[in-house]
Amino acid sequence: MSRYVTFEIFRYDPEKDKEPYYQTYKVEIRRPGMLMLEGLNQIKWEQDPTLAFRRSCREGVCGSDGINVNGVNMLSCITKIEDLGTDHLVIQPLPGMPVMRDLVVDVTDFFEKFITVKPYLIRKSPTPDKEFYQSPEDRKKLDGLYECILCGCCSSSCPSYWADKNYLGPNAFLRAWRYLADSRDEGADERLPILNDKHGVWRCHTIYNCVEACPKELNPTKAIVEIRRMLMNRNY
Ligand code: FES
Repeated sequence: MSRYVTFEIFRYDPEKDKEPYYQTYKVEIRRPGMLMLEGLNQIKWEQDPTLAFRRSCREGVCGSDGINVNGVNMLSCITKIEDLGTDHLVIQPLPGMPVMRDLVVDVTDFFEKFITVKPYLIRKSPTPDKEFYQSPEDRKKLDGLYECILCGCCSSSCPSYWADKNYLGPNAFLRAWRYLADSRDEGADERLPILNDKHGVWRCHTIYNCVEACPKELNPTKAIVEIRRMLMNRNY
């Protein structure tokens, strides 16, 4: 006998809806391990083509399909419906980001904050003849940092990010630390004043929402602690 799960989905089209509302769909579970994204596709392709949501790679790489399911941020393409442990799923756009339509949020501000921390290697000394050498030990320090796919699940889960529109947010800090921790980088003096701002790392209240929300199991809170330590060691 077929098994169905209820998807109660946030709907809002600013061009025709006065208010957001929730619409309920029945999704048929067609295979063990069926993913949230397959459920959303089933609705869009078989029941309601007006439903808007983002997705691209379907592999947990592009970071485009962050959504909030029963209060938890996640990527729809790597989340198994059965792992959510319930037959009633309330699906919303990522919190703290402006809704463009249905589950699609405006990530402009999120990416501007990412750019603010200069997420690239900065060099001051002369370019070497060959490669910028990095020892295996120093390379290992970047594990748990470089894997970020910019899905926004961490920043969108953070109450400080919701409350302070200028707060850079856990994603920007994780990305900043990825470069500050890189033995080839010489840009600390450019980045640290930005991070030492009142909208910077000191505004984090260490509630770990970002750690729980990250679908890649990265730790933005640890990055924030490391940046604070660097600021103190350098007497900022
Ligand atoms: Fe690319 Fe999910 S569709 S990360």
